Amino acid sequence: MGRVFIAGSINMDVVATADRHPKVGETVAGKQVHYFPGGKGANQAVAAAKLGAPSTLIGRLGTDAFGQQLRQFLTAQGVDLALVKDTADVHTGTAIITVADADNTIVVVPGANALVSAEDVAAPMLSKGDVAVSQFEIPQPTIGAFFKQARAAGATTILNPAPAMACGPELLELVDIMILNETELGFLTATPLADTDAPARFIEAARRLPTGADKTICVTLGKRGVLALVGGEPSLIAGRAVKAVDTTGAGDCFVGALAAQLANGKSIRDAIEYANAAASICVQRMGAAPSMPTAAEVAALRG
Ligand code: RIB
Repeated sequence: MGRVFIAGSINMDVVATADRHPKVGETVAGKQVHYFPGGKGANQAVAAAKLGAPSTLIGRLGTDAFGQQLRQFLTAQGVDLALVKDTADVHTGTAIITVADADNTIVVVPGANALVSAEDVAAPMLSKGDVAVSQFEIPQPTIGAFFKQARAAGATTILNPAPAMACGPELLELVDIMILNETELGFLTATPLADTDAPARFIEAARRLPTGADKTICVTLGKRGVLALVGGEPSLIAGRAVKAVDTTGAGDCFVGALAAQLANGKSIRDAIEYANAAASICVQRMGAAPSMPTAAEVAALRG
């Protein structure tokens, strides 16, 4: 069995719920405030650990109360934190999130996440069969160093280019599997895309990503499911009809679940189906990291 290594962000999510999102310049009355563990890296690491893969997170926390709470939570979820450094004089990553009608808006203040360095990712000894995962909430040169090392070891690399931002072809060349939503796909291919577009439009855009035709691309489409290009061959895996209460972290659940399945030796097609089912459980609960399902829950859903 392989292991999953995630180089990524760790945040405290400060979540306000409301009946609707405020417009620019407007104030609306909120209903509740929650402090949920989050951050794309941490969410993906929790998903992988709960879904049965040894999961090591590489990242940074501040030496503040949020940092201590996150360390405690992640340890309890079974995530290996040996490579998470406490960093003085900088705050723990913090996300300010509004949830209304199951959808969210997020402002992330990186804090310690911005200091995750190439030296930080040099420590793990990756091997063939391992899976290396990252996202865009830590510096891109760090991700490049991490993926170079993973490639040299024969590990599989997964990039979740979220939040959307520009990146050079030299990073994309190091990626085996790219997992992104329609906003990120639209940004990286300079194509205006809406979640209501026909699948053919997403396929066309995904083919324009400068990743190479042999790579796997998964476009997560929320309740519509996932559009996958495996070796250039498109397929649409339908979403499951569920009542979503909070979609925060659903994409991270998909990434962590897929990585765990690959580390456990499953085929890419099986891993995508499994991750799609896992994400449908995640959206039925509030919060990001706390809403990741267990392997038993996914097994019960798939029958
Ligand atoms: O993908 C969801 C995550 O994005 C949240 O947990 C928040 O911390 C931001 O990083």
